Amino acid sequence: MTDYWIAPSILSADFARLGEEVENVLDAGADIVHFDVMDNHYVPNLTIGPMVCKALRNYGIKAPIDVHLMVSPVDRLIGDFAEAGASIITFHPDASTHVDRSLQMIRDAGCKAGLVLNPATGLESLKYVMDKLDMILLMSVNPGFGGQSFIPSTIDKVREVRALIDASGRDIRLEVDGGISAKNIAEIAAAGADTFVAGSAIFNQDDYQAVIDTMRRELAS
Ligand code: DX5
Ligand code: ZN
Repeated sequence: MTDYWIAPSILSADFARLGEEVENVLDAGADIVHFDVMDNHYVPNLTIGPMVCKALRNYGIKAPIDVHLMVSPVDRLIGDFAEAGASIITFHPDASTHVDRSLQMIRDAGCKAGLVLNPATGLESLKYVMDKLDMILLMSVNPGFGGQSFIPSTIDKVREVRALIDASGRDIRLEVDGGISAKNIAEIAAAGADTFVAGSAIFNQDDYQAVIDTMRRELAS
């Protein structure tokens, strides 16, 4: 049976109470914490950096922190995030001049490494670095903001990447990010995803446990 992970995106959390929010969502059954880093350069929005990741660790958060870098350049932040307690670091290949080197830097820093593909980005950048990937993240919205609608063509792309991963025989997580809710999570899982980012669908509800329970029921169906 697939080991599904639910990864709440803290982009939609209440930043004034971030430690508590992350604790609550983990108590409600989330598996990992999705941490969106935006630089107002690669994407038109600005969020949080390594200090906030460190603050969550100091607060006592033990769950894996899945750092999604929407920044360019990439490399300068890798060491800082590794030191701040990141577990997984993913970046967009079009944001790094030397993708292979950036992936190697992430692993050398002791983290799991992954690439993120935007909705219109093809799979070419994956082929020669499959041995350096622990995760592939497919964007199902254009990166920059929470609360957008899921782009349906992502489903075919998930199928294609699932086939690539299976053919490689490697242990690579397939994560999808953007517009995921209890309504579409089963379809995305059926296409081959195993890790689901959800921001607004979770944090915009009062009862995190109820949303995550519903998502798990959908995944089991
Ligand atoms: C978008 C971010 C996502 C976003 C998801 O650029 O990478 O992680 O927060 O939010 P929802 O689930 O609201 O689409
Ligand atoms: Zn994200």
